[in-house]
Amino acid sequence: MRLIFTDNYKMLSLRAARYLAGQIELKPDCNLGLPTGSTPLGMYDVLVRLHQEEGLSLAEVSTFNLDEYQGLGRDHPRSYYNYMKENLFQHVDIKEENINFFDGTAEDIEQECHRFENKIAASGGIDLMILGIGRNGHIGFNEPAEELRSHSHLTELAEETIKANQRFFQEEEEVPGQALTMGMGTILKSDRILLLASGQSKAWAVKELMKKRVSPRFPASFLRVHPRVTLLIDQEAADKI
Ligand code: PGA
Repeated sequence: MRLIFTDNYKMLSLRAARYLAGQIELKPDCNLGLPTGSTPLGMYDVLVRLHQEEGLSLAEVSTFNLDEYQGLGRDHPRSYYNYMKENLFQHVDIKEENINFFDGTAEDIEQECHRFENKIAASGGIDLMILGIGRNGHIGFNEPAEELRSHSHLTELAEETIKANQRFFQEEEEVPGQALTMGMGTILKSDRILLLASGQSKAWAVKELMKKRVSPRFPASFLRVHPRVTLLIDQEAADKI
């Protein structure tokens, strides 16, 4: 695992966006795996700036988002699709047909997961997967457990994750307890992985990740078996290593 240290969140966002832009320049029709949450917001911001001010084009890029809340449709303000639309898609030249998402309202969830897996495979696989890490070490919505699922699936969110994600919802709204997520195997099939960790709240997870052990109790540890992972962290997240 390669490590890149940055001073702060702003620098981390800049480096992450440049990394992503480098991938797009290298292969304009690349397949990107994308995360949501707080961490990538700065990266998306810079990416939009690179598009608007420096002519970076996403016209040939295809995207596959890591996860979506079960029960939330694309138009729901708290859906991850809407997050991506507001923070990236509507500001760049990506084609609607190249955006791939789980349908959180699908009636046949198993079939929906198959469709998503097949689409990734038929597109030639993910060239670059960008990931955040949960405070408990989750990746996507692969939560700590006795065993992990390799393929895309419906999963229960950990109590801690529901609490952490409440900040994106209004007070009277409930965070959905289930989500569709890529499995650890789906993620590990990506050609390259860029893992982002920022802030004090991620210091414990980063410390765990540095232990050279693999355990489903700490899903991010599975990234250690992948040959091309870069961990991009800021000083606060690196506090315990
Ligand atoms: P965050 O979430 O970027 O909002 O901290 C990361 C994650 O839970 O995977």
